Amino acid sequence: MARLIAVVSGKGGVGKTTVTANLGRALAALGRKVTLVDADIGLNNLDVALDMEERVVYDILDVADGRVTPEEALVADTEFPSLKLLASVRSGVSDKIKAARFAALTSVLGIAADYVLIDAPAGVESGFHRAVCAAKEALIVTTPHIGAVKDASRTAEILSTYDVRNAGLIVNRVRYDLVRRGDAVSPRKIAALMRMKLAGALPESDKIGIDQLYGARGESARAYMMLAYVVEGRSDRVYEPNETGIMSLFKRRQKW
Ligand SMILES: Nc1ncnc2c1ncn2[C@@H]1O[C@H](COP(=O)(O)OP(=O)(O)OP(=O)(O)O)[C@@H](O)[C@H]1O
Ligand SMILES: [Mg+2]
Repeated sequence: MARLIAVVSGKGGVGKTTVTANLGRALAALGRKVTLVDADIGLNNLDVALDMEERVVYDILDVADGRVTPEEALVADTEFPSLKLLASVRSGVSDKIKAARFAALTSVLGIAADYVLIDAPAGVESGFHRAVCAAKEALIVTTPHIGAVKDASRTAEILSTYDVRNAGLIVNRVRYDLVRRGDAVSPRKIAALMRMKLAGALPESDKIGIDQLYGARGESARAYMMLAYVVEGRSDRVYEPNETGIMSLFKRRQKW
């Protein structure tokens, strides 16, 4: 039976869908069977992030209405065939899929997978409830911005009222140049302030949304791989930029 993990945030637009897609790819690259479920019903974003939109035939409403089984609706990634997606619906029918039905179909998908990652919608309303009710664990995504951190803290409080393990915090869109100068708070400090385990730190990247990031060489790919190792419980290390040379020695002496 798979680990069922909801990717949640509180504030919208902080990177839940991007994290779900790329963490899924990183886990698949480690040889895991990963199923991604788009729980942002009415806004199909995950298939777009994975560049699978054209290949989606059946969506979650087809499954919820019993037209196809959950397995029949899955679309496999071309690069990592052990990564599969259950896509969301493209129209606003969110209320048609109740939390219990969603949890049942998610757990069916968990039978044949190592991980089911559930991409939650923004906010803490019914869509969040549906995603979290289907999960056993949750990863909270935030950016370093104060508004996002506040919402993430509130989300952590709300999560504690559910039967899910808080699996840790992911700080996305980190500007390490600002952190080095002392103009932004480091991911470690944010996690400490929130009294949460830091599961991952992901740098701000120009490439996201263009070249699918994971698969691309570079620091984001490395950061996602490190996140995957933490999720697997194989490591506690999160990404930090790897600089060499005299300038980096100088920079490292400055505040982190
Ligand atoms: N590390 C990053 N660097 C640069 N851009 C990023 C990064 N992570 C995400 N983005 C961009 O931020 C935007 C929002 O990301 P995404 O859709 O994943 O957020 P979300 O939390 O799922 O949003 P919503 O709450 O609307 O579902 C996208 O344009 C995405 O490409
Ligand atoms: Mg999203």
